[in-house]
Amino acid sequence: MLVAVASDHGGFALKEKVKEYLRQRGDKIVDLGTTSEDSVDYPIYGKACAEAVASGKAERGIVCCGTGIGISIAANKVKGIRCGLCTSVEMAELTRKHNNANMLAMGGRTTDPALAMEIVKAFMDTEFEGGRHKRRTDMLDEM
Ligand code: RB5
Repeated sequence: MLVAVASDHGGFALKEKVKEYLRQRGDKIVDLGTTSEDSVDYPIYGKACAEAVASGKAERGIVCCGTGIGISIAANKVKGIRCGLCTSVEMAELTRKHNNANMLAMGGRTTDPALAMEIVKAFMDTEFEGGRHKRRTDMLDEM
């Protein structure tokens, strides 16, 4: 799968680990920055990743900031984006099954990297259940 990734400085180290993990799986990556731990503004990177996914340039997006909160808020402002901030494997499975999330957000300062890779795996490998959940995601996409 082609995955767009982005982070601010607080999520930079985790983004680099996510890239390594995705490469090992055989996924393709578009890295939209940032490129170091120098301070930057997370809305720029959340928006860039969300626009790559919304436009179809990437099939999924993964974003990281210190907590995952700010960058997920930014991503969810782009029409067509359903970005789930996940802190557990269960949340990642459910945001795919129920929300058909096309983006995942995680916190580089709040989520252990080993757990984060399990979260990425669940996000990448879990299918949307459709049915009653489709009606609800259609409502989200209309907003
Ligand atoms: C940056 O210091 C921090 O505020 C940011 O990474 C993120 O946690 C915001 O939600």
